[in-house]
Amino acid sequence: MAEPIRLVVDGQTVTVPEGSTLLAAAQAAGREVPTVCYHEALTPPGLCRVCVVEVEGARTLQAACVTEARAGMTVHTRSPRVERARRTTLAMLASATDLHDAPALQALLEDYDADPAVFGPVARRSFPVVDDNPMYVRDYGQCILCWRCVQACATDAQYVFALTLAGRGFHTQVSTAYDVAMPESPCVFCGQCVAVCPTGALKPRRTYLLEQGYTPAELAHYAAVDRSPAHPPPTRFEATVD
Ligand code: SF4
Ligand code: FES
Repeated sequence: MAEPIRLVVDGQTVTVPEGSTLLAAAQAAGREVPTVCYHEALTPPGLCRVCVVEVEGARTLQAACVTEARAGMTVHTRSPRVERARRTTLAMLASATDLHDAPALQALLEDYDADPAVFGPVARRSFPVVDDNPMYVRDYGQCILCWRCVQACATDAQYVFALTLAGRGFHTQVSTAYDVAMPESPCVFCGQCVAVCPTGALKPRRTYLLEQGYTPAELAHYAAVDRSPAHPPPTRFEATVD
């Protein structure tokens, strides 16, 4: 059984089990540390750095979701340095990604006064919307590369490994291996990736089409359409009912 340790978070002494993260210690102190890539059901990848906190004596800010709390630490969850780092990270995310469908991220941008315009003219990562299966639609222009879907598809939940990362740098995106259409991949359409996506990049197809303005009658027609790769998705105008 883990021994309890004591540390100070924002002036408050808290006791947490040895092995806890700084995020858990902050929560024990009643402090809210924002997270983006972290999901409680998944292995934290420590990618986004939105959760950084300041630990006295440490040279760099620490990602709270993956840093282990140690006895005697003194932690600041919202110091000016932390605020500055979060503001920059959030502004960078918003400068490269379409976040219109990510209300939690929008709220953070507002909270931290993060303005993507500080990086000059916005260069958005943009990819064609992938509508290649009956279950869900992928718009990687809205993807922040948090990795949650890849992990849910792999050893954190489904163990089918249908998703991976492809491309490099600015053009990195989530993809199937060899970029095959989803029905040709090992995907079992469990929906776990859609459930953990924080931005709306992955969306149930029905929701996506309704948002695009399709009528329920058109959606009923869609359900009968052959979705095999030989029959590409119908367009908005092919979807009229007889
Ligand atoms: S598609 Fe969603 S869950 Fe997957 S990496 Fe992008 S933002 Fe994260
Ligand atoms: S939430 Fe901690 S690094 Fe993303």
